[in-house]
Amino acid sequence: MSFQENFLWGGAIAANQAEGAWNEDGRGPAKTDVTTGGSVKEPRYVTFIDKDGKPGKVINGQPIPEGAKYAVLDDYYYPNHDGVDFYHHYKEDIAMLAEMGFKMFRLSISWSRLYSHGDEDQPNPKGVEFYRSVFMECKKHSIEPLVTIWHFDTPLYLEEHYGGWNNRQLIDFYVRFATTCFKEYQGLVKYWLTFNEINNTIMMLNLFGNHAGDKEHQQGYQQLHYQFVASAKAVQIGHEIDPNNMIGCMICGITFYPGTCDPQDIMANRHMWEKSIFYCGDVQCKGKYPTFAKRLWNEHHVQLDITEQDLEDLRNGCVDMYTFSYYMSSIETTHETDDMVSGNFAAGARNPYLTYSDWGWAQDPLGLRYYLEMIYDRYEKPIMVVENGLGAYDTLEEDGSIHDDYRIDYLRDHIKEMGKAIDNGVNLIGYTTWGCIDLVSAGTGEMRKRYGFIYVDKDDQGQGTYNRYRKDSFYWYKKVIESHGQDLD
Ligand code: BG6
Repeated sequence: MSFQENFLWGGAIAANQAEGAWNEDGRGPAKTDVTTGGSVKEPRYVTFIDKDGKPGKVINGQPIPEGAKYAVLDDYYYPNHDGVDFYHHYKEDIAMLAEMGFKMFRLSISWSRLYSHGDEDQPNPKGVEFYRSVFMECKKHSIEPLVTIWHFDTPLYLEEHYGGWNNRQLIDFYVRFATTCFKEYQGLVKYWLTFNEINNTIMMLNLFGNHAGDKEHQQGYQQLHYQFVASAKAVQIGHEIDPNNMIGCMICGITFYPGTCDPQDIMANRHMWEKSIFYCGDVQCKGKYPTFAKRLWNEHHVQLDITEQDLEDLRNGCVDMYTFSYYMSSIETTHETDDMVSGNFAAGARNPYLTYSDWGWAQDPLGLRYYLEMIYDRYEKPIMVVENGLGAYDTLEEDGSIHDDYRIDYLRDHIKEMGKAIDNGVNLIGYTTWGCIDLVSAGTGEMRKRYGFIYVDKDDQGQGTYNRYRKDSFYWYKKVIESHGQDLD
């Protein structure tokens, strides 16, 4: 039958969205710590003090003005500062995951908790100890950690003093950080991901449509190149330190469909796959840039800083597995359309055959199978779906229950398609649903956009007890795991 007994069922969180304790025990700030809360209508802002000492803000993703310094300002609320306080609740949280029967727990290591500025020679012992305790707790419950080394949280100091990933030096800082992780947690962690949704840099360029010109593409492709090299070097070191390590790429997986059978749409859709999905996957899985990279660079007159050594590193640093997030599909068309939808890192025409979440994200379980089968055919490496789930409004009833049948329906439909993909030969080895414990939304900064099996009592202004409650989906997922994916009712 579809799912093997050793299938890695579990869930996922990220440090900056869950841990909180943003300035405790020597942790330095990351960009998320100067990012305000938003909503489905209101964007998140990044706050700063300008060169004349005046406070200001820009929409998240936009650069701050010349001479300005990132700053935490009094009049704003920063939801990531407290996250859901996983930093102080991890024992209780991991025990609840174990109660569901988790085989795998995906979490990330906050770079600035280990290296508060990012350029120090030695890591912060308290940071190192924290993650050791977390992994020991996983071990106690026989849960395999899946560790994301970078989940959108470059230390703010590196952004300000080095220009972030525009600077080649970031490769060395990242490699030092990754090496520390491999050495310190050898024997406790076997499964690793080098960069979360590495292709988001490109997805962001797509979102800005024609506004992203040559300059933005030059910058985006160059940043990515440095991240590819950093990832490839980390893979090599990870294998040297422990040949048992399984190290993967992590791609933001979106299934693109052509809007019509107009050959222009078919070609545009193919190019969308190449730019958004295959570009990063090919480099990380095959160890070299694909042929179509030349076309992409030429379209925007991109000239990359690539050395011979980089190319050798890419060749020697192929990942062992392909992992991706999957929430939705998107439509690509060259025809005029006034009914556009957007979600996560994609924007496209509305698909009349699909339903959409309250945040406008398309729900397309079949799209997950399409993606799995296509990707496995391309790389033939073990695959994991490391994020999938429904962000939805939940109601905490007076008796502490949460009836989230909509979430159960969403997950059930996706699991069924994963089962079919396995039956069709895809070597799918694990599934970690997103936000298994409610956490701060990356896109909107909201708490009310909940994904978890475990409800956390905290609202969008940071008020609440932070107590944990089991949703109906908690008991359902426990049954799914117990039955090895057979009992989905
Ligand atoms: C992925 C990210 O893009 O989507 C997560 O890896 C994020 O960090 C998730 O939380 C869901 O997005 P959102 O905006 O609903 O939190």
